[in-house]
Amino acid sequence: MLARDGEQVRPVVDVRPYAADDADLYVVSDLGVGLGGVRGPVPADHVLGVGGASTTLAQITVRPEADRALDIGTGCGVQALHLARHARHVVATDRNPRALALAHLSAGLSSTDLELREGSLYEPVAGERFDLVVSNPPFVVAPTARFAYRDSGLPGDEVCRRLVDGAPQHLADGGWCQLLASWLHVEGEDWRERVAGWVVPTGCDAWVVQREVQDPTEYAELWLRDSGEHGTPGYERAYADWLDAFAALRVVGVGFGWITLRRSGSADPFVRIEELRHQVEQPVGAAVQGWFARQDLLRELSDEGLRGARLVVDPDVRLDQEVEPGQGGPVVTALRLRQTRGLRRSGSLDPVGAAVVERCDGTRTLGTVLEEVAARYGLDPDDVAEGALSAVRDLVADGFLVA
Ligand SMILES: C[S@@+](CC[C@H](N)C(=O)[O-])C[C@H]1O[C@@H](n2cnc3c(N)ncnc32)[C@H](O)[C@@H]1O
Repeated sequence: MLARDGEQVRPVVDVRPYAADDADLYVVSDLGVGLGGVRGPVPADHVLGVGGASTTLAQITVRPEADRALDIGTGCGVQALHLARHARHVVATDRNPRALALAHLSAGLSSTDLELREGSLYEPVAGERFDLVVSNPPFVVAPTARFAYRDSGLPGDEVCRRLVDGAPQHLADGGWCQLLASWLHVEGEDWRERVAGWVVPTGCDAWVVQREVQDPTEYAELWLRDSGEHGTPGYERAYADWLDAFAALRVVGVGFGWITLRRSGSADPFVRIEELRHQVEQPVGAAVQGWFARQDLLRELSDEGLRGARLVVDPDVRLDQEVEPGQGGPVVTALRLRQTRGLRRSGSLDPVGAAVVERCDGTRTLGTVLEEVAARYGLDPDDVAEGALSAVRDLVADGFLVA
């Protein structure tokens, strides 16, 4: 799209091809800051194009065939375009009317039907339920609300808490909600407890992954750079105000990560809150779905059932041994299980744990494996089973062992 400028024409929005799954799409957004784009301060209603956060959310999203899906804070419409590949009806909302106008263009150029609605958070979908809700919200924790695309205007991490809080009322049975989110690290408070305080009351199964943490100075610096204020006359003041606001809330860091909720209806929902800072193999949407499926399986599987299972080591798992020379020959000093694909988890095992895992080749039941290992180490089989069963559950949950 072009505007006339005297004898010249200039672009007014950014239109770019976007390849997603099996589709060739177009995404329309505002021009970026800098060369050929926005000069001077970023306008408050600026609509961001596809960035790192957008891609992350698209890649962690589970993609079951769905009837109804919702994208909250659609911006240029990128998440909604993805949703429309596997959901029959997609509602995309935004508080910024300019975002809805550009999402409308994205949808039109991509021959995709989206139902666009203006409003904040869940307001435009009151009383409605969806099979999948996604949001890449304005999660930046800032002292003032200046940019629609990143500042919610709510204090601290409240926007993310509200998105979590509203999810169960808007999820169909078995429905999923996936969010990118920030949470405060407050002096004297464990961040896990803070986020547990959001997800546990939903009654949903929940998996929270902290991907990074920044201290207040890094954080203020990053987001002032993002809005092009680095090196400007107002920079020092804005930076100091940001740090003052953090200090007032006793914030010692800001965590960022992924929240996945599933309205399983279980009376005993599982909640896991963990940190995974290493590089994963994106897209991990299928791995996320697989993790919930394995939790379902384990919930149904008694210890007796687990003992009767013929477990195998997942083919993408490696058992790394660290060996040092010893007086009587090489000595194994450390054993690590390492996934080469997906979430690329790793964990260390003691020698008994390693002996269990090595014997899980599908030819005998776990009960037999535990007896063999007890005999090998001269241990009481009941003692081995007592320690091993919960460890094996964890290995199955994380996909190291396949039941
Ligand atoms: C980080 S952008 C995400 C855009 C796009 N979904 C993506 O993944 O790239 C956040 C979007 O949320 C919108 N937004 C901000 N506050 C909102 C609110 N209270 N309710 C709904 N949308 C909001 C912004 O206008 C912006 O389009």
